[in-house]
Amino acid sequence: MKITLTGSLGNISKPLAKKLINNGHLVTIISSNSDKAPQIEALGAKAAIGSITDRSFLTEAFAGADLVYTMVPPNFGANNLYQYITGTGQNYAEAIKLSGVTRVVNLSSMGAHLESAPTPIAAAAEVERTLNKLDNVAIKHLRCPFFFVNYYGLISMIKNMGILGSNYPGDTRMLLVHPQDIAAAAAEEISNGFTGKSIRYVVSDQSTPQQVATVLGTAIGQPGLKWVEFTDEQALQGIIQSGVPAEIAKSFVETGTFLRSGQLWEDFDAQRTPVTGITKLEYFAKEFADKYKNG
Ligand SMILES: NC(=O)c1ccc[n+]([C@@H]2O[C@H](COP(=O)([O-])OP(=O)(O)OC[C@H]3O[C@@H](n4cnc5c(N)ncnc54)[C@H](OP(=O)(O)O)[C@@H]3O)[C@@H](O)[C@H]2O)c1
Repeated sequence: MKITLTGSLGNISKPLAKKLINNGHLVTIISSNSDKAPQIEALGAKAAIGSITDRSFLTEAFAGADLVYTMVPPNFGANNLYQYITGTGQNYAEAIKLSGVTRVVNLSSMGAHLESAPTPIAAAAEVERTLNKLDNVAIKHLRCPFFFVNYYGLISMIKNMGILGSNYPGDTRMLLVHPQDIAAAAAEEISNGFTGKSIRYVVSDQSTPQQVATVLGTAIGQPGLKWVEFTDEQALQGIIQSGVPAEIAKSFVETGTFLRSGQLWEDFDAQRTPVTGITKLEYFAKEFADKYKNG
């Protein structure tokens, strides 16, 4: 099959591209950075250089593809996060319609079932709805929980304050996913084939923030590493001070309040979805230790 991937050589798209190429597919990878073209080509893929904000570029990059993988990249510079995410979803929908693509694997978020959710999750739900309006297009939404790699963002907290923390307690139930497992799920859906519009939850592990602190702490030689619960205001100020723009920082804090309430996992539980990911916290801890030591 001819498959076009958004997400460049990011956490999910790179391992996904490798799997698809190994399985004999012809893969095109979209990147906004022409410097990435040699790395993309070294994988055995074709590089399509341009921005997902450019509908005519996207339409051209999707043309002739049997399937596209859509994801909305993080954008700390967005003036309005909701508009950026939902607008990107509209770009994808338009480009899919104009290019005649009939199969889509879309990266979505756990919590997309909620009527009221933190901004990035509410926006991911709107992207699902936008794509689902496409007639005669089969779509598989991969709803994912908290990425393990998010913990890389807390390395400076460990180095500067000797703790891990956020605005939810150490015994909060956390569903976690490794990008490799998302890539594996996407590749599996592509090879099994799917019809209609449906969702799949992808989860690698279940834990708590304190267990995460203990496992990551042990991997970096700090087995006593403590998880500290901050107030919403303390968390907001801390995230802003670390250089994250206020609107994005607000959405992180908002996500923390939903984690506290457990609402994000309700539909996953209601559907009695098994935890199928194979990449567990202990495995990620080795990658985390490497990043912690070597940057
Ligand atoms: N973090 C979580 O807990 C979580 C949970 C659920 C869902 N998600 C979803 O997962 C996404 C992240 O996926 P990921 O980790 O695989 O992504 P990632 O590693 O951040 O990679 C995204 C890539 O997209 C490319 N990109 C950025 N802006 C672009 C543009 N305007 N046009 C074309 N390409 C652009 C960038 O590469 P180039 O520089 O080469 O263009 C970037 O490396 C989030 O944005 C969110 O939608 C995250």
